[in-house]
Amino acid sequence: MAEKKGQLKKKLWGGRFQEKTRSSVEKFTASIHFDRRLYRQDILGSMAHCKTLHRASLISENEMKKIIKGLGRILREIESGKFKFSEAAEDIHMNIEQRLIEVVGPSGGKLHTGRSRNDQVVLDLRLYLRDEMDEIAALMDNLQEVFFHLAKDHLDVIMPGYTHLQKAQPILFSHYILAYYEMVERDKSRLADLFKRVNVMPLGSGALAGAGFSFDREYTARLLDFPEVSQNSLDAVSDRDFVIEFHSFASLLMMHLSRLSEELILWSSTEFGFIELPDEFCTGSSMMPQKKNPDIPELVRGKTGRVFGNLLSALTMMKGLPLAYNRDLQEDKEPLFLTIDLIKSAVSIYAELLSGIKVNRPMMLQGLKKGYLLSTDLADYLVSKKVPFREAHEAVGKLVRYCMDHHKHIEDLSLKEYREFSKFFEKDILDLTLSASIEKRDVIGGTATSQVLKRLEKLKKSRQKP
Ligand code: ARG
Repeated sequence: MAEKKGQLKKKLWGGRFQEKTRSSVEKFTASIHFDRRLYRQDILGSMAHCKTLHRASLISENEMKKIIKGLGRILREIESGKFKFSEAAEDIHMNIEQRLIEVVGPSGGKLHTGRSRNDQVVLDLRLYLRDEMDEIAALMDNLQEVFFHLAKDHLDVIMPGYTHLQKAQPILFSHYILAYYEMVERDKSRLADLFKRVNVMPLGSGALAGAGFSFDREYTARLLDFPEVSQNSLDAVSDRDFVIEFHSFASLLMMHLSRLSEELILWSSTEFGFIELPDEFCTGSSMMPQKKNPDIPELVRGKTGRVFGNLLSALTMMKGLPLAYNRDLQEDKEPLFLTIDLIKSAVSIYAELLSGIKVNRPMMLQGLKKGYLLSTDLADYLVSKKVPFREAHEAVGKLVRYCMDHHKHIEDLSLKEYREFSKFFEKDILDLTLSASIEKRDVIGGTATSQVLKRLEKLKKSRQKP
């Protein structure tokens, strides 16, 4: 009996049980070691629920005040590291509720009226994600700021542009950097869009069928600053679409950073030598004294796989779940937390690293010499002389072959040599330069300096908006 009493005190749901939970089961089912991260949101949600209970006349004003005060005390206990988390109490919700009853006495036991952990946990998760998303958006904005300045400060740098990782056409380094700005811009807009679907208040859904008391759910939503309340209790407690959407947003973001990683790694190699990564961000080899390794980009690329994996784990967790809540859903949290941590650290370290990269103009110029990057311009030149593009392409192809066979760059050719491939080449062909090629790409979105400047100007304006 003593043990039974002990157990009843211990487990908030212990009433119908005759035997103690096995400790191996407690260990297996507990989530407190990871969901304690939700403590703040859990407490804020409970404070709002407590006010809703009072509004529905389920607790007195005095009880409401006592509970809110008790919750405030627990918040401080947790934040000062004094709170004793217990595995036997399973999760953050019951850890806090159990402590509340200790702190305020039996009236603490009224807090869970009309609420289930099923609607509570999804409320916590939404509140938590909302906060994190704000931080992530700010970090992404900071990364864009770095891209913006890199582009603005290197407007005169020309580099080889690639397709198939084969030299293709000259481009402005700024144009290249702004490509990443655009990617992050889309990531930001995805984040803002999914925020709308995170920002829905689920409390009042109860375990699955809706709370059995006449709660003013819109009041709860106002207290917690939600513009909307969920419209179907079954869906509300079992929906994790917003988690999956977040994972897919994160996966795209990491995919972008991983592509950038690949380029930073290649370009800082001696083979390319286009950029130099700051020493502070690299490591050496324990064996080879000459080495300077691009660990940060490598790790960002490596961590990308984990973020993709977490998207897949969330999708897989959901695919076979009958309505409504199932304990499987507890498994949504660890991957989500991990992904949040990973993307925050990747985005912030990239902002730091990129502000310190050195652009190696001579190596870029050297790269521009080999690879016949002006070939398209030569063909375009012939087109301007009314030669059909296909014929021009053929003629320039032969000219390139000639250069290869005679170890010449296009810039080394004399007019006489040019004219062996087409009689339409005239003296002005000798004026063709890398910058001329760049400036010709004067279409919206092209690499011409004027276009890049226009884009920078527009971005500057949009960045100044509050
Ligand atoms: N720890 C649980 C989770 O993360 C809270 C909800 C538990 N609900 C339940 N009916 N056992 O999902």
